[in-house]
Amino acid sequence: MIVAIDGPAGAGKSSIARQVAKQLGFEFLDTGALYRAATLAVIRAQIDFSEIDALVELTERVEIRWDGQCVFLGDEDVSTAIRTPTVTDAIRFLADEPRIRQQLSAQQRRIAEDRDIVTEGRDQGAEVFPEAECKIFLTASPEERARRRLQQLVASGRHMSEQQVLAAQNKRDLEDRMRPVGRLRAAEDAVVLNTDGMTPDEVLQEVLGIVRSCMPTG
Ligand code: DC
Repeated sequence: MIVAIDGPAGAGKSSIARQVAKQLGFEFLDTGALYRAATLAVIRAQIDFSEIDALVELTERVEIRWDGQCVFLGDEDVSTAIRTPTVTDAIRFLADEPRIRQQLSAQQRRIAEDRDIVTEGRDQGAEVFPEAECKIFLTASPEERARRRLQQLVASGRHMSEQQVLAAQNKRDLEDRMRPVGRLRAAEDAVVLNTDGMTPDEVLQEVLGIVRSCMPTG
């Protein structure tokens, strides 16, 4: 069974998808981590982001691996190294390129093959897994997402104003929504869940309820 969870940055997809997978005994796939790892490989190789063919060639050549929790470049666990503003700001160069999306989407399908999996990203329900048994579009207002993000930043000792967080988030939302391919959107058959005003546990229970209602009975 495939559970596809999509939504904008900061909607809490990753932590909810992880917990849902754990509770149900499913595998978990963070597809943003694959885009981030490919972007990190490009930065490390010092390839100019305007050299699209070189980006495609490098993404084909590097070994990006997902072990169910962490993402690797070759043998190196890069799960922490991919979460920097430099990587986040550069992802669009790769995410906008159809050949790179095709390649990472094929990898996502291979990972999900013959598995019960909860996968999260931007294009999972609408493009990568149109046949998914359960599709959820998790969202929240920009202000609420920015507030949650700010709390995470403060907890990790980093400081930005709410205005700065909101501006960066608005920019990314626009890029994610306007992407020529694989843009952020809810699949027509997705359940849309707006989590404004809900606690993380309320969101988890709601999502678990939706997933259970999609499970084949008997
Ligand atoms: O989920 P995240 O914030 O780690 O994703 C980072 C970026 O990767 C996101 O802004 C757009 C891109 N991405 C994508 O294009 N398609 C996906 N399925 C997942 C992420």
